[in-house]
Amino acid sequence: MNRSKRISPADGKLAVLLPGLGAVATTTIAGVLLARQGLGAPIGSLTQMSTIRLGRRANDHAPKMSDFVPLARLEDLVFGGWDIFPDDAYASAITADVLRREHLELIRGELERIRPMPGVFYPEYVRRLCGTHVKSGRSKADMVEQLRDDVRRFMRDRECVRAVCVWCGSTETFTSPTRPHESIAAFERGLIDNDPGITNSQLYAWACLREGVPFANGAPNLCVDFPAAWHLAREREVPIAGKDFKTGQTLMKTVIAPALKARMLGVRGWFSTNILGNRDGEVLDDPESFRTKEASKLGVLDVILQPDMYPQLYGELFHKVRIEYYPPRGDAKEGWDNIDLLGWLGYAMQLKIDFLCRDSILAAPLVLDLALLLDFAHRAALRGTQEWLSFYFKSPMTAPGLKPEHDLFIQLMKLKNTLRLLMGEEAITHVGHEYYD
Ligand SMILES: NC(=O)c1ccc[n+]([C@@H]2O[C@H](COP(=O)([O-])OP(=O)(O)OC[C@H]3O[C@@H](n4cnc5c(N)ncnc54)[C@H](O)[C@@H]3O)[C@@H](O)[C@H]2O)c1
Repeated sequence: MNRSKRISPADGKLAVLLPGLGAVATTTIAGVLLARQGLGAPIGSLTQMSTIRLGRRANDHAPKMSDFVPLARLEDLVFGGWDIFPDDAYASAITADVLRREHLELIRGELERIRPMPGVFYPEYVRRLCGTHVKSGRSKADMVEQLRDDVRRFMRDRECVRAVCVWCGSTETFTSPTRPHESIAAFERGLIDNDPGITNSQLYAWACLREGVPFANGAPNLCVDFPAAWHLAREREVPIAGKDFKTGQTLMKTVIAPALKARMLGVRGWFSTNILGNRDGEVLDDPESFRTKEASKLGVLDVILQPDMYPQLYGELFHKVRIEYYPPRGDAKEGWDNIDLLGWLGYAMQLKIDFLCRDSILAAPLVLDLALLLDFAHRAALRGTQEWLSFYFKSPMTAPGLKPEHDLFIQLMKLKNTLRLLMGEEAITHVGHEYYD
């Protein structure tokens, strides 16, 4: 997998296109604008903060990830996006109420210049919103063409040489793949026929893939996770990744569950509940959008704990997830977990987690990392589903038929080893037998 010689440099401007200029997107943009002026630290971002060990432990060589991997520089990022409301990034950030005014005022001019392009919006997929800043078109195929024009125009006007796209739009209602999702030809036919199985986010993903723009999906909806999209991504030689940013409760779940499993402690029940009051919470108040999120959140424990292999420890596990819309909290989410455990001789114990987090503060660094790493992957000639980016997702996309890897530390090892191999370094296994053999 040593491709270091083939990786093209990160020269020139990179367009970072964000469909959905809401809380997560504006927090990301504002954070990058502040960080590049030295007015804030990009905490939570691996690409900006992390080191990566190279070679043997005794060598003590661990450069910053951004010094080791040729990533686009923050100065070279040009933000754009689409929304179904016309607010610029400053107005939208004020509405989202995540960052304080004293932060936003420092970059107000730059934020005000970021105005969303009109969105593609068929309201049946997000029933709690009523968009006013939307495109009209004869068919879904026509909508895709308009989105492709937007990408080309944005890159031309803003003098960008490359682009990446990260879906930061609302969670859509629960849908499963249907006939148009099976192949590229069937999807193209479905676009012309306005097939109801093709949702808004899929139109953005399709337009980006057609334009050769790498695409990541931060929401749990299908978006770019179906056979037609996998095939198109490979055909167009574009990397893709998803689904659903792993930020708060699931981040903790994919740390705690592997720890319990590693010690062969049993789990009888895991009840997770959240309160949040942002627009995302309002959208998730619709049972059909919640169903999409629920499926994404429920998946992790079964894969980590493997109840089929360990029926005595996890065969009876009762797992329940709730999200309650509670406006007074805004973006300051609270996630509670109650875990009923079993120890030696089956004796019961309990573990409680109360995570008073901030949704968009946790999500913003993931958007930045995904944009930079997908751009890198593209320049390294990787295409199709990028499983090594599972680290960032609740419901990671995999090759067909494979179970996703959910354990956060296995995901991190996979990510770092992929970077090492791409850059011509040895993978690190942590065996370390040379120190005692
Ligand atoms: N913040 C987190 O911790 C977190 C974690 C995992 C996933 N997510 C997902 O990230 C997404 C964004 O979250 P948020 O808190 O920014 O939500 P938000 O409601 O503040 O922003 C979403 C934006 O998408 C816009 N939108 C909806 N449909 C659109 C369309 N068809 N085209 C263009 N724009 C459209 C909405 O108008 C809104 O401005 C959601 O899907 C959420 O579930 C967030």
